Amino acid sequence: MADTTGTMAPEATAEAGDDGVRRRDFIHIAAVSAAGVGAAATLLPLVSQMSPSADVLAASTTEVDVSAIEPGQAIKAVFRKQPLFVRRLTQVEIDEANAVDVATLRDPETLAQRTKEGHADMLVTMGICTHLGCVPLGAAEGENKGEYGGYFCPCHGSHYDTAARIRKGPAPKNLVVPDYEFTSDSVIRVG
Ligand code: FES
Repeated sequence: MADTTGTMAPEATAEAGDDGVRRRDFIHIAAVSAAGVGAAATLLPLVSQMSPSADVLAASTTEVDVSAIEPGQAIKAVFRKQPLFVRRLTQVEIDEANAVDVATLRDPETLAQRTKEGHADMLVTMGICTHLGCVPLGAAEGENKGEYGGYFCPCHGSHYDTAARIRKGPAPKNLVVPDYEFTSDSVIRVG
């Protein structure tokens, strides 16, 4: 008979078989099953903490003061519980992005299409690899920026360029540019 944990009551154990081999097998399976239930119970509060209701998420915006970000630097912020990269490109990085023949890209977009008019140096993207959702490296000082000088996802080796466009590796799309606007020269509002 199964109890609430999915394990069997002691009398059921005895019924599982009179020969010792079958009984030992059953005890082993029951122990694994109980361990599985324990792990799920531990995870559930974490998952529910990470999942605010959809309407709360949909309504939330994030303001970021970008004035202190120097050319060549990036910061990591949080938007709707997910990592957000805000990066001020150097002139060299802008030139590198603009020198690429867009037709050769897996997910063709120009830097201008991925930034706001008059703010081509400010690259705002989600910090989530479009392959399987790891957080790429490259936003923090000293991190690996990959072969194209943008971001590098070490999970399976995706390389993004200085416009955060996918250039090499399994990721199918560029890092996502969320909806955002400049509310002043120094502040963006995302969402
Ligand atoms: S999750 Fe980034 S390369 Fe797979």
